[in-house]
Amino acid sequence: MDQFVITGGRPLQGVVQVSGAKNAALPILCASLLSSEPLHLLNVPHLRDVQTLLKILSGMGVQCDQTGNEVMLRAERIESPTASYDWVKTMRASILVLGPLLARCGYAKVSLPGGCAIGERPVDLHIKGLEAMGAVIEIVHGDMVARADRLNGAHIFMDTVTVTGTENLMMAAVLAEGTTILENAAREPEVVDLARCLRAMGAQISGDGTDLITIQGVSVLRGAKHTIMADRIEAGTLLVAGAATRGDITLQGIDAGVLESVLDKLMEANARIDLAPQQIRLTMLGENHGVSLRTSPYPAFPTDMQAQFMAMNAVARGTTVVTETIFENRFMHVQELRRMGANIEVEGNVAIIRGVSRLEGATVMATDLRASAGLVIAGLIAEGETVVDRIYHLDRGYEQMEVKLAALGANVFRRSRKGDHGTV
Ligand code: EPZ
Repeated sequence: MDQFVITGGRPLQGVVQVSGAKNAALPILCASLLSSEPLHLLNVPHLRDVQTLLKILSGMGVQCDQTGNEVMLRAERIESPTASYDWVKTMRASILVLGPLLARCGYAKVSLPGGCAIGERPVDLHIKGLEAMGAVIEIVHGDMVARADRLNGAHIFMDTVTVTGTENLMMAAVLAEGTTILENAAREPEVVDLARCLRAMGAQISGDGTDLITIQGVSVLRGAKHTIMADRIEAGTLLVAGAATRGDITLQGIDAGVLESVLDKLMEANARIDLAPQQIRLTMLGENHGVSLRTSPYPAFPTDMQAQFMAMNAVARGTTVVTETIFENRFMHVQELRRMGANIEVEGNVAIIRGVSRLEGATVMATDLRASAGLVIAGLIAEGETVVDRIYHLDRGYEQMEVKLAALGANVFRRSRKGDHGTV
C-alpha cells in the first residue's frame, strides 16, 4: 500500500503539463464497443481506472493495444457482453459499458454497482432511460441483465442531472431506431468530448454541452481517431496547490474555458490568473483569502474540487462555508484535516471552516480519490512531515502526481508498503 511522504512549506513554482481526462477517457474507451472498426485514442492518461477498464474490455473480446498515452481498440467481435461484480466493485464507471453493449449486441449483463464511500449513487436513471428506449432490464443475483432487439429513440427527461447517465444513454441512442432527446442532460465538458468522438465515428448528435441533447440513430458506426481532452480536475487540483502554497505555477495543455467556476474562486482567494492559448498561469497577490462555495452540476462549481478548496480554506483568512449538493457523504477528508489542526464544523451537507494560522504535519488516511487530493494539498501547506496513507485512491485519477509536484519544487516522495488494495 503506497503512501506519499510530504514535507510542507515550499511555494510551488514552475511549469507542468496537464494529462488527459479520466472522466472523458472512461466513456470514450467504452464507445469502442459501438463499432467493429478500430478506435485510435491519443492523450489517454495512465491511471488505475483506465487499466481496469481495458481489462474489462479485453475480457469481452475487444482487442486493446496501449503504447504510452496511445490506445488502439478494436471490437470486431464481442464474445462476452458482460462486466462482472469483481470489476464493477473496483470501479463504478464500468457501468458505462451497459448502453454500448445493449446498442451493439442487444444484450448485456453488468453487475449492479454497490455502495460507494462518497454516497449511495444509484443507477436508476440509467435503467429508466434504457427502458424508455425499449430495453427489458431484470436484476438477477445482483446483475443487470438487459435485452433489446433494437433500441428505439425516445424522449427522456432525467429527474437529476447525471454525467454517466447522460453518457450511457447517448451511447445507447446512437445506434437506436429513430430520434432520442435527452432533457435535463449533463453539460459537463467530458460529455461534449464523448459526443465529439462519437461524431467522428459517424454518430448524429447535437446539443451536447446544453441540457437538451438530440441523437438521430444510425445503423452502423465506423472507426475513428480521437484525442482525449485535458483533465480539468487535475488542472484545478494543481492550481489550488499552487495557490495554497502561495506559489507561481503555469499549466500547459489545458483550455481555461472548462475551468471558469474554479478560476473565479481562485481569483476570489487572491490569485492572479494569466491566460494564453492552452496555458494557465497562477500567481498569488498576497495571503490566501478563504472562499465559500456550493457544488453543483457544470458549469457551476464541481464537486470534484470541493476537498481541494477545503484544504486551502483551512489556513486562509476568515470563515468560509462549503455546501456539498451532489454527494451525501463527501466530507470524509474533514476528520483527517482536523488531525492536522484544521478547525472545521460539519452540519449535514454544510462545512464551516474557520481559518487557522498553520497546519501541522501528521499521518492521515485517504478515503476516496478527491479527498486524497485535498490531503496532499494540506501536506504541502503544513509544517513538518505529512504521510498520506492509501494513496491508491489518488492513483485512480492522477497520473504520477508526486512526479508533477516534485517538478514544481515540492518535497514529496512515494513510499511503498506491502498490504491490501481496497476499493473506491
Ligand atoms: C461523474 O460520476 C464523475 N465520474 C464523478 O467523478 C463526478 O463526481 C460526478 O459525475 C459529478 O460531477 C465519472 O465521470 C466517471 P452523477 P457519476 O450520476 O456520473 C444521482 C471523480 O472524482 N444519481 O452525475 O456517477 C447521484 O447519486 C468522480 O472523478 C441518481 O440519483 O455522477 C448523485 O447524487 C467521483 N440516479 C447525482 O445524481 C442515477 O441513476 C449526480 O451523480 C444517477 C445519478
